[in-house]
Amino acid sequence: MKFFIDTANLEQIREAQDLGILDGVTTNPSLMAKEGISGHDRVMKHYVDICEICVDGDVSAEVIATDYDGIIREGEALAALHANIVVKVPMIKEGVKAIRYFSDKGIRTNCTLVFSAGQALLAAKAGASYVSPFIGRLDDVSTDGVQLIEQIRLIYDNYGFNTEILAASVRHPMHIIQCAEIGADVMTGPLSAILALLKHPLTDHGLAQFLADHRKAADASR
Ligand code: E4P
Repeated sequence: MKFFIDTANLEQIREAQDLGILDGVTTNPSLMAKEGISGHDRVMKHYVDICEICVDGDVSAEVIATDYDGIIREGEALAALHANIVVKVPMIKEGVKAIRYFSDKGIRTNCTLVFSAGQALLAAKAGASYVSPFIGRLDDVSTDGVQLIEQIRLIYDNYGFNTEILAASVRHPMHIIQCAEIGADVMTGPLSAILALLKHPLTDHGLAQFLADHRKAADASR
């Protein structure tokens, strides 16, 4: 399973990259705003900065336009920024048309804001490179987000769609584990959820014991 980090924070992206497990980055307009990044030139430069940190990974950059011509214009400009850019397009009618256009032109896309199997099926048929079901936001409204990933996995496997399932809106380590069990191709989540996978009290306890025993043996041999 590929690990993407869901942030526009350069320090966090660097930290995940330094860990050696990062396969890509997803951003969205809210995450960019959270980092105080606004204005066309600053936004474009920020995407390039992200690509230069996550050198071998895919970086999703989202269009703001919601009309077909606008999505095409913005998407082409984003794709021209760097080879690693994947154009993030919302699951709306104009977005589906634009995904087909981008796919025919060899521009990679991430279809975002997906909340149902039907939407995921349409995204795959339009040729999206990635589909992003938002599992945390489904959980927020008492609907099983992980179950949606399972449904999409079944549908894509039935027909051999190449679109990668990118489990988005991941909130905690159990989401990551459940997505891995089900066979999501990618997960994107905050650094905290990724780092939480490291943690186990028996690891901490075991390490403390090993180090204490090592010290004791060293003292005894002096
Ligand atoms: C996905 O690409 C989105 O950026 C993201 O995962 C949304 O997550 P949230 O529901 O935690 O805002």
